[in-house]
Amino acid sequence: MAGVRKKLKLIVSVTMVNLFIFILISRNSSQVKNSQNKIHIPSKPFWAKLSTSPAFWNRQQQILDFQNNPVIWANSSGTDLPDWLNETSLTSDLCRPNFRVTTQVKDYNTLPNRFKDFLLYMRCRSYPIMMDQPDICKEPPFLLLAIKSLSPHFDRRQAIRQSWGRAGVIANRTVVTVFLLGNATSEDHHPDLSEMLLYESAKHKDIVQWDFRDSFFNLTVKEVLFLEWIQARCSGARFIFKGDDDVFVNTYRIMEFLNSVSEPKARDLFVGDVITNAGPHRDKKVKYFIPQSMYVGSYPPYAGGGGYLYSGDIAARLQNVSSHVALYPIDDVYTGMCLRKLGLAPEKHKGFRTFNIDEKYRSNPCAYKSLMLVHPRTPQEMIKIWSWLSRPDLTCQ
Ligand SMILES: *[C@@H]1O[C@H](CO)[C@@H](O)[C@H](O)[C@H]1NC(C)=O
Ligand SMILES: *[C@@H]1O[C@H](CO)[C@@H](O)[C@H](O)[C@H]1NC(C)=O
Ligand SMILES: *[C@@H]1O[C@H](CO)[C@@H](O)[C@H](O)[C@H]1NC(C)=O
Ligand SMILES: *[C@@H]1O[C@H](CO)[C@@H](O)[C@H](O)[C@H]1NC(C)=O
Ligand SMILES: *[C@@H]1O[C@H](CO)[C@@H](O)[C@H](O)[C@H]1NC(C)=O
Ligand SMILES: *[C@@H]1O[C@H](CO)[C@@H](O)[C@H](O)[C@H]1NC(C)=O
Repeated sequence: MAGVRKKLKLIVSVTMVNLFIFILISRNSSQVKNSQNKIHIPSKPFWAKLSTSPAFWNRQQQILDFQNNPVIWANSSGTDLPDWLNETSLTSDLCRPNFRVTTQVKDYNTLPNRFKDFLLYMRCRSYPIMMDQPDICKEPPFLLLAIKSLSPHFDRRQAIRQSWGRAGVIANRTVVTVFLLGNATSEDHHPDLSEMLLYESAKHKDIVQWDFRDSFFNLTVKEVLFLEWIQARCSGARFIFKGDDDVFVNTYRIMEFLNSVSEPKARDLFVGDVITNAGPHRDKKVKYFIPQSMYVGSYPPYAGGGGYLYSGDIAARLQNVSSHVALYPIDDVYTGMCLRKLGLAPEKHKGFRTFNIDEKYRSNPCAYKSLMLVHPRTPQEMIKIWSWLSRPDLTCQ
């Protein structure tokens, strides 16, 4: 009895599945027929009417999008453009302070100084280079390590040179290391260390410095100048790592990872500790605070600025697109915005630990073996961890 019922059940379910498949196929084929015969003409305009965003950055981006829209410029005489899009700033010197922001940003006067400084110079993307290494990539490296540093951080740079950022050959692959610096200005009460920096640069020939104020909000300027620098000085680099000077990078593991990436994927490679579904902090006390008057909306996926890895090919595309994205005061978010404009998204890799590892593993050499980046680490820790990883007899499960 039970056997018959089971058989019946089976027959019924097989019939149901067949019927379902039949319905699916017939629906699909009727859709194909429909789309061949009928052309869908939208009954209403299918674009949104452009209206001014209340936030300054968003408005600047709308202007850029408008200016870079080939469809509009194909025919436009300029007269039919809405008033607010008619930025006359195109002609004026973009590196002079733009005092119009003092009225264009509604709470300008009550914003912290760093916002005022950012807004006044937001349109400026070119600063003179003070120290360059024009021949550093004469032999195009497999991996370019670019480390954001501040002029007084001599010990961090030296620790990086003596450990994970040692230029030359690592794991049978060529490595070039550069440190990216702005100007530590007296306006920020930095002591004048320029002579020591000159000495360091002459000795190691790995410092690239531009003449802009090296502040947190100017890290985006550093990013844009670096993208330009890559194209001018190191366009042959296969891969680029860009990160902070307080991280430990397991260069061995990075090489292993890069060797394992297959060709089509290598071209579009952009990996790091990716943050998704984030948005601006509205708490004034947070370092990453951004006021409503400056930016509205969420952030695109972005890789935390502690360190990320990408292909030389992407670097060229980023450089190309960056002039179409308004500068944003947080550099890693800005890079995420540029990637989105390219139709790309950074990929998360669990080897990037910008939020550190569990305390109980921090002094365990094996904990670092499979990681690519850990943040933060002091100069002494960098040298210690590197010596652990460089031991030929280090065996881990
Ligand atoms: C540009 O102008 C030509 C001639 O006036 C017209 O045929 C064409 O549709 C216009 N294109 C756009 C994108 O407006
Ligand atoms: C845009 O600016 C130009 C130059 O200042 C001016 O001649 C033109 O009338 C302006 N157009 C609009 C729509 O405001
Ligand atoms: C090192 O790299 C060179 C060139 O890329 C290659 O010819 C050589 O076989 C490699 N050696 C080892 C041990 O992998
Ligand atoms: C860098 O900053 C220092 C200190 O504020 C200043 O004297 C100097 O002119 C700036 N520029 C260069 C190129 O050194
Ligand atoms: C960025 O650097 C420029 C040039 O030194 C400076 O005028 C501006 O105030 C800086 N911006 C910030 C936010 O520090
Ligand atoms: C940069 O942009 C130009 C013009 O849009 C394009 O022709 C060129 O191929 C782009 N280069 C890269 C590397 O994407």
